[in-house]
Amino acid sequence: MTAPDHRLSGLRARFAAAGLIVLASLSTPQSTQAAQAAQGTPDGMALYEAGCASCHGSDGQGAPPERIAFDDPLPDLTDCSFASREPDADWIIVSKAGGPVRGFSDVMPAFAEAFDDEQLQAVMDHIRSFCTDRAWPRGELNLPRPLFTEKAYPEDEWVWTSGVNAEGPGAVINELLYEKRFGSRNQVEIALPFGFAETVSAPAGRDEGPTEGLASDWGVGLGDIEIGYKRALLHDLRTIFSFGTEFKLPTGDEERGLGSAEFQIEPFLALGQILPGDAFLHLQTGAGLLARGHREVVGGAEGGEAVREAFLHAAVGRTFTSGEFGRSWSPMIEVLGSTHLAEGSRPQWDLVPQMQVTLNTRQHVMLNVGVRLPLTDADVRSTQLLVYFLWDWFDGGLFDGW
Ligand code: HEC
Repeated sequence: MTAPDHRLSGLRARFAAAGLIVLASLSTPQSTQAAQAAQGTPDGMALYEAGCASCHGSDGQGAPPERIAFDDPLPDLTDCSFASREPDADWIIVSKAGGPVRGFSDVMPAFAEAFDDEQLQAVMDHIRSFCTDRAWPRGELNLPRPLFTEKAYPEDEWVWTSGVNAEGPGAVINELLYEKRFGSRNQVEIALPFGFAETVSAPAGRDEGPTEGLASDWGVGLGDIEIGYKRALLHDLRTIFSFGTEFKLPTGDEERGLGSAEFQIEPFLALGQILPGDAFLHLQTGAGLLARGHREVVGGAEGGEAVREAFLHAAVGRTFTSGEFGRSWSPMIEVLGSTHLAEGSRPQWDLVPQMQVTLNTRQHVMLNVGVRLPLTDADVRSTQLLVYFLWDWFDGGLFDGW
């Protein structure tokens, strides 16, 4: 473990420029290339020791403060809650291009010239060995979020969704959603829907005709507050399968069409699947149940909860990246199907083409814009324009990493 790898000498210069006193400890293992030549595959642990351990520590917890000459906090790579949620691809980008490529500190150097992709992958495989608890689903499964389909992956995020009807009287429906993970597989959420709706009052004696020029009144109202729980039941590197339940409280302003005045329970199953070529699929199916005391609404079924509605949501999409390290664009197409289980009612189908884009360098603030097109009863159901603004708050403050 003596002769420095010639490719690491460039790094040494960079470290020196950064005023690091870790140099002495960066005693490069005997040619890592020689080791590779012997084994045929890069030795991730040796490369990590050579390039990363001086700052990140051999155990991944970060070198002791007296060994490093910077104040920027180092991540704890053994902390599963932090490490499991970052996909390899994101960490490889940071390791290749340096911290600033994702809005992190420039103390985190760029290794593009020192290590090739295969070597960096071997380093990642070694870093992955620091978190030993496999109960944590990997960040690769955190697929782009569709406008309606609930993801199987547990999240820490805020999402503000707004929708406006393209036809008919004006109405803006909003939902502010907060999601919080706990433990390795669980998530709780609370959603606060609210809306602005226009009521057009026609002068006496005039019941129909164009609404332009008539007095209209915009009012704000609260919708049905929802509380939810979700748990990942199964996951591997490509698939995640979860169960969840949402409880809808009858807090809505019924007069403004913003609530149902019923207590509802909505159990569901959700699947996230990584497909070849950066494509992905989300599936969610569930039922809307009315709680006790509201049985009459579904025709007097006796006892327990009554199933009122069943639904199926599906979304497929693909992620494209601008340049090697840039913004992610994820076009998706979503299909929403629902049916009331009362006799004589027909299923309703909607199609929702949409595009999600990451807004900042850190890529933890995103926007999704889509159109909900009714495929059934299109004469009575309005086309809706939708947009959400998403902040993955675990990855940093709203104003960090731009
Ligand atoms: C000169 C010290 C130094 C060296 C050497 C170094 N890092 Fe870092 N690294 C940092 C610092 C500091 C941060 C924290 C940056 C921040 O949070 O702003 C960091 C952060 C990271 C992150 C976390 C990014 C995230 O999502 O939060 C990864 C992954 C990483 N380094 C990988 C590596 C790998 C792999 C190597 C070796 C090939 C390496 N680092 C070498 C200083 C270093």
